[in-house]
Amino acid sequence: MSNEPGAPALGTKIIRISEAHEHVGKTVTIQGWLYNLRKSGKIVFPIIRDGSGMMQCVAVKNNLPETVFEALKGLTQESSLTVTGTIRAEARAIGGFELDVAEAQIIQHVSEEHPYPITPKEHGVDFLMDHRHLWLRSRRQHAAIRVRHEVIKGIRDYFDSHGFTLVDTPIFTPAACEGTTTLFEVDYFGEEKVYLTQSGQLYNEANAMAFGKVYCFGPTFRAEKSKTRRHLTEFWMVEPEMAYADLEEIKRVAEDLVVHLVGRILENRREELKELERDTSKLESVKAPFPRMSYDDAVKLLESKGSEIQWGGDFGNTDETLLTQDFDRPVMVDRYPAAIKAFYFQPDEQRPELALGVDVIAPEGYGEIIGGGQRIHDLALLEKRLAEHNLPREAFEWYLDLRRFGTVPHGGFGMGVERFVAWMCGLEHVRETIPYPRMLYRTRP
Ligand code: 4AD
Ligand code: MG
Repeated sequence: MSNEPGAPALGTKIIRISEAHEHVGKTVTIQGWLYNLRKSGKIVFPIIRDGSGMMQCVAVKNNLPETVFEALKGLTQESSLTVTGTIRAEARAIGGFELDVAEAQIIQHVSEEHPYPITPKEHGVDFLMDHRHLWLRSRRQHAAIRVRHEVIKGIRDYFDSHGFTLVDTPIFTPAACEGTTTLFEVDYFGEEKVYLTQSGQLYNEANAMAFGKVYCFGPTFRAEKSKTRRHLTEFWMVEPEMAYADLEEIKRVAEDLVVHLVGRILENRREELKELERDTSKLESVKAPFPRMSYDDAVKLLESKGSEIQWGGDFGNTDETLLTQDFDRPVMVDRYPAAIKAFYFQPDEQRPELALGVDVIAPEGYGEIIGGGQRIHDLALLEKRLAEHNLPREAFEWYLDLRRFGTVPHGGFGMGVERFVAWMCGLEHVRETIPYPRMLYRTRP
């Protein structure tokens, strides 16, 4: 027999609440935290959460030792406890099952003097963000993070089953990929300057020449002083890169990935979407083909909708929202003016002032979720662009090597996980799609 805290009563099996359906009529132990407590005379109904689900327990005074009943009756929110009892199907209960308590052990009783700070009343978002380490226990936050997990798993499964090799790219980098204005500089032993990566793309290009089709997936950093609902300073990006791919192929893969992920979320995360009150009909319509338009046509469309955009300008958040207004699925815009894009874009053959890049813009105001395109594969042109963008040649020597040794047309894209998850969940702001958001004014907890 064990006296370890949380150890089950002799002979009972520890289960997770999500497995309750397999144990109806059996006596089991669950290990969790008190979510809520209802009392009705000689019965108390503790609702326990264990991270996998919620279980309403029924503790009857006459069936329990006095001390156990009293301990349960006085239990405070988020106190930790284990409960042993028999599982019963109960359609009206949260989760569809109830547990008749035979035994309970309080692991920690949260003090009345210093109660759990997040109560069912309304809290401001700053307060909640300051308590993010606790807020993650709340149902909506829990749902969003589980959707995130599914998105990440879905991304990996998609690329793993389509011939891509995962090749990780470094976080400390000597060169800028997405412009020098958004670099986080790190002091590297006082000897040289390195930056936190903005994108794994440049390394991905080297890896694609080694493996044909690759992806990297990790945190990326942008010192962007944007305080919008779409910007984080640290976000996760998946980036596929393919040798011998042209812009059309890149668009095809981006579309296929998005359709695959939306389908998977609808299939596996219904409960979470319901918790988040997501209108799933909006996601059901996300099917191929996505509308495709050129930057030129996008500008015309925006003008017709009253936007002040002029040819040559980048789309703002409002423009992106306007662009997708009449569509029930993401819109793909390609061939942007090279002047507003990064240095590495392959120019359009007929109109070299255009970059062979594509943005995938999500509907319902979620904005750009994917950016990518074809890369310059010609050595001389790439050298010229580096100079035009005032990028330090020596940091890019290895990158130029890729154009010296078996260069081929190639390309890929990057998809930001948080923007994608925000769209899936119907969340107003990306800050709730990552466990510990890093933003202009937030680096804690
Ligand atoms: O369009 P971006 O900047 O493209 C690149 O970094 C390319 N090098 C990717 C590639 O081709 N391999 O970023 C790609 C995506 C955006 O579409 C957006 O989803 C996300 O990354 N993103 C951000 N997400 C949250 N906060 C930010 N500050 C973001 N910046 C970009
Ligand atoms: Mg972009």
